[in-house]
Formats: sequence, C-alpha cells, structure tokens
Amino acid sequence: MGESAKLVAGGNKELDLPILTGTVGPDVIDIRKLYAQTGMFTFDPGFTSTAACESALTYIDGDEGVLLHRGYPIGQLAEHSSFMEVSYLLLNNELPSKTELSDFSRTISRHTMLHEQLMSFYGGFRRDAHPMAIMCGVVGALSAFYHDSSDIADPQHRKISSHRLIAKMPTIAAAAYKYSVGQPFVYPDNSLSYTGNFLRMTFGVPAEPYEVNPIVERAMDRIFILHADHEQNASTSTVRLAGSSGANPFACIAAGIACLWGPAHGGANEAALNMLKEIGTPDKIPHYIARAKDKNDPFRLMGFGHRVYKNYDPRATVMQKTVREVFDSLKVSDPLFETALRLEELALSDPYFIEKKLFPNVDFYSGIILSAIGFPTTMFTALFALARTVGWVAQWNEMISDPNQKIGRPRQLYTGPTERDYLPLGKR
Ligand code: ACO
Repeated sequence: MGESAKLVAGGNKELDLPILTGTVGPDVIDIRKLYAQTGMFTFDPGFTSTAACESALTYIDGDEGVLLHRGYPIGQLAEHSSFMEVSYLLLNNELPSKTELSDFSRTISRHTMLHEQLMSFYGGFRRDAHPMAIMCGVVGALSAFYHDSSDIADPQHRKISSHRLIAKMPTIAAAAYKYSVGQPFVYPDNSLSYTGNFLRMTFGVPAEPYEVNPIVERAMDRIFILHADHEQNASTSTVRLAGSSGANPFACIAAGIACLWGPAHGGANEAALNMLKEIGTPDKIPHYIARAKDKNDPFRLMGFGHRVYKNYDPRATVMQKTVREVFDSLKVSDPLFETALRLEELALSDPYFIEKKLFPNVDFYSGIILSAIGFPTTMFTALFALARTVGWVAQWNEMISDPNQKIGRPRQLYTGPTERDYLPLGKR
C-alpha cells in the first residue's frame, strides 16, 4: 500500500485513508470509504478542498498562474495553435497531424447547419431575449433532433454528438444575435474557417458580401482558445453532474450554459465591461477601489479575483496582449482600455488586493476586445459558451468513459427541524 493519511474519528476509530497521486498537482486523500467506516461525511461547501473526479484534460496551478491543456501551456497554444487544433487536442489527448486536423475541421464544418425546424424556435422568443436564454433553450432542444446518436454508452454516438455540438454552437449563437437585431439569419459557409464562418454568420448580411478581417478572425480564434476548457469549474461540474445520471449530451450542455450565465462565472465579462463604463474615466478609479474594499458595500471589482488563480490569470495576459494587437492593427483606440490598464495598475499596488491575491482574470480584458469587434455586451457570455462547449463535451466524454463513473450525489449537513408530528390546520 502507498502513502496514507491517518484520521481519528467516529468514537476514536483510527482510519488509514489512502493518498492518491496525480501526474502533477496536489495529492488527494481518498475518502470514498469514510462514511462506511465512520458514519461521517466531509463538509466542503463550494468544493474548495474536494476533487470530484479524475481528469487528464486540463491542469491549473492557481498559485503559479499556470494553465495546461493535455500538458501544453495556454500561452503557447494561444500563440501558435488554432481553436480547431485545440479542440482536437482536448477531445483526442494529442495534437493532430496535418491530415488529422484537416479531416477534423472538415467533419466539424459538415455539421454547422441547423435543422430548419430548429430555426423556428427563435421566433418564439421576444426580440429582447438575452442570447443566453435563447442558447439554453435552443441547445436543450437539440436533444429532440438527434435520436440517431442518443446511445451515450456507444463511443461513436458520443463522438457524433460532440461534433454536432461544437459545429452548431456558432450557428446557434450567431442566430441568437441576428434575431435580437432583427436581421435575417445567415447560413454557414463551410469554405471559411470555424471562426471566420462565425464572424460572417454574425456580422454578414445577405445584401452585401462579407470579407472576414484576418486580424479580427485571429483575435476571435484566440479568444475561443482561451475559453476552451478550464478544469472543474462551476459550469463544467454542472455538465458532469447532469451527465452522471445518463442524461443526453445536448441537455447536459444546456445545463452548463445555464450555470455559465451567472455573473460570478461567465457573466463576469459583461459585468466587467459595464463596470468599466460606469467608472468611465481614470480619475474615478480610486472611488471604485475604495468601494470594492468596503465590507459594507457589495460592490466588487468585476474581472478581478478567481477561485483558483491566486496569481495573474495566464489567459488575462494573452487577452491584454490581444487587445493591444487588435487596436494597433485596426488603428482604433478605446478610452475604456486605458481605464482598465490604470485600474489594474492601481489595484495591483493596493495592499487589499495584494493580501487577498486578487488579480485580473480572463474576463477583465475580454469585454473590451469583444466590444471593439462589434459584439453587444449581451453576446459576451454566449461567446464564452460557444468556446467552452468543446471543454464541456471533452469532460463529459471523459466522465462517461471512466469505468468508475457514478451518479454525482453530494451529501449534506442537515440543520432543519428534527422529526415532528403534523398538526392539522385548525391547531396551528
Ligand atoms: N473585488 C473586491 N474584493 C474581492 C473580489 C473582487 N473582485 N473578489 C474577492 N474579493 C474578496 C472577498 O470580499 C473576500 O474578502 P474577505 O476574505 O475579507 O471576506 C476575499 O476577497 C475572497 O473572496 P471570495 O469570494 O471568498 O473568493 P472566491 O474564491 O469564493 O470567489 C470569485 C472568486 C467569485 C471569482 C470572486 O473573486 C469574484 O466575485 N470576482 C468578481 C467576479 C468575477 O470576475 N468572476 C469571474 C471569474 S473567472 C470566470 O468565471 C471565467
């Protein structure tokens, strides 16, 4: 037997709990037999110390600001790779060869269209519906269209569903945008790249040809890479939990989208941009920093802090650089970027943020660049969902293929009333 941890609990019972070691990162104490042996559970709301699964996809060292996909640093992937290549990597463990990449890209592009019947779902939404509300509904509705690949125990079925989800997400997100601005849906053009196609479906109109700007295409592709996967975050854990019951992948991804929508998670880039707009000019920054530090004020610096990163989020580094590149090449500027840079500088020299290890996260700069590309703030989280879909399906596949997979069923510390007798209405 390897190393173990000793625990004395449940009437002085001494337990040897096995310690499991991964390839890198903290060891974990295996408590699977704890309840059977002591009659006790562990208590860890928010899962701050609990590993809920084994995974070989993504590794994060939050203290060092490291993010690896299948071992490759995010900075290198963002610099040299493409979203299609990273998607292949996440799904298949290894980087693709040239032929594997072109086959994979072709397969994905062949699945970009939506069933015409699905398009009629859009008309049921109000024009001012949030794109995330539409995404939850339409992605969930995909479940009703693909009965041919619904056997989740069949790896081939899972593969087809995964390809469909990755391929259709840009079409679904672009259509949500088109619906909100009252323009006709633009159908996919499979001669374009994954990202170029998405830009055309979003910003193109049937009345005139649409030229994909290669600088914007590259920046957008990089944003997709930066959001592709992020280990066991809230939405990914939601997908895993939903999938653990054997639910179909479209329903599971719809659940992930719902979780991502929250302002503490995917909604933060929208919130960060709104905050920067509210701050407006650099002279107002000290006032907002003071508010963020005030215990009696619920205001937080949006785009700052992270559950895992207690150092600079490596994705924020790439994002900041990308904003600069896009602004330089498009010869545009945005005073909000200057405000953001100054806010970062002031916050990072403030003892409150230093002591609590609060650094900019990926969302701090992403809103600025998405806004420069032309997306309204309401689309930001939808773009995040589009990119994260590959991570969700890769994690879902990994979970289903795990022979130890069980339905996810957390326990609780019950604090409600003990058993009592029902009193008829007249006696209460
Ligand atoms: N501004 C001011 N203070 C903050 C901030 C912030 N953005 N974030 C955390 N703090 C403070 C908290 O008040 C708390 O202080 P205390 O110890 O005195 O009570 C301390 O730092 C720790 O914060 P927690 O909320 O306990 O940390 P947790 O790990 O649970 O939260 C979270 C992480 C939710 C991301 C938080 O930092 C936050 O709300 N940030 C703003 C929202 C945001 O940017 N979310 C995006 C996350 S990244 C993503 O989803 C892709």
